[in-house]
Amino acid sequence: MLEMDFSLETELAGLKMDNPLMLASGVLGVCPSLLKKAASAGAGAVVTKSVGLKEREGFPNPTVHVIDSYALLNAMGLPNPGVEEFLKEFEGERFRFPIVYSVYGSSPEEYSMVARKLLSLNPAAFELNLSCPHVREVGSFIGQDPRMVYNVVNSVKSSVNVPVFAKLSPNVTDVLEVAEAAVKAGADAIVAINTVKAMAIDVDIMKPVLGNVYGGLSGPAIKPIAVKIVYDLYENISVPIIGVGGICCWRDAVEFFLAGASAVQIGSGILWRGLNIFGEVLEGLRKYMLEHKFKCVKEIVGAAHK
Ligand SMILES: Cc1cc2nc3c(=O)[nH]c(=O)nc-3n(C[C@H](O)[C@H](O)[C@H](O)COP(=O)(O)O)c2cc1C
Repeated sequence: MLEMDFSLETELAGLKMDNPLMLASGVLGVCPSLLKKAASAGAGAVVTKSVGLKEREGFPNPTVHVIDSYALLNAMGLPNPGVEEFLKEFEGERFRFPIVYSVYGSSPEEYSMVARKLLSLNPAAFELNLSCPHVREVGSFIGQDPRMVYNVVNSVKSSVNVPVFAKLSPNVTDVLEVAEAAVKAGADAIVAINTVKAMAIDVDIMKPVLGNVYGGLSGPAIKPIAVKIVYDLYENISVPIIGVGGICCWRDAVEFFLAGASAVQIGSGILWRGLNIFGEVLEGLRKYMLEHKFKCVKEIVGAAHK
């Protein structure tokens, strides 16, 4: 197959990207210059750190603990400057790539208020963080209750005319039920998954490692959990799925596409491989597609179900 017959361009739920790789929310913080670096490194779109109505300091240190080369534990506690300060940081910046703004809140009204305030930045889409596992007052309890998920998505959908993605938690009894509620409320895509509830104890000091005692696990250790959820979602829901969880190389990304993801996000992988991970995954994906004579990413999406 000729290179000219081939494209990595991806469109999902109205979001147009040069390729299907996205920077996952939070891992690089809130700084616009870091988002630009991720895009220069090859990300087709970037997701900001989750922003809420009011400033949050986050949890006491330590907030991040690298367990090994497969797993990272974090309990950041959603630190962010609040939407007004966030706007100041982003206004006046020019971006040549799509930005998805990640929003959290403590009620449906708060989510839609934050999303409306962010409209001045011309978002390519909103990603609703319904799923932060360690911050009870904002996020985690919402993502565990399908009715709340419905109300949040519905509230944001009726406030903004921009694609809305619902980011789900794996820390629930039935992810499908939550996803179905989000889709029913009008979610344009589902993002799966956020981190998996976890903790670690330091045997020398005999205390939990994280300042917040427990947190969320990310990295390769959670990839099989994420792939299974994407696979199940693909069989049961009608909107595109964005897969995230443990992607560290092109094979991991392809696994998500085969399971049913239309695009993938990379988070903790940056910690181990640096921002070059985007270029490396793209190169591997390109070679894989040419070798298997796939002309576009759509042709791989869900192929493992056939
Ligand atoms: C340090 C850190 C901060 C994160 N912050 C956020 C956040 O603000 N909002 C959010 O939706 N997800 C956040 N996440 C979750 C990631 O976006 C992603 O869903 C998760 O880490 C799994 O992907 P990974 O294994 O590629 O990191 C964070 C993850 C990490 C490791």
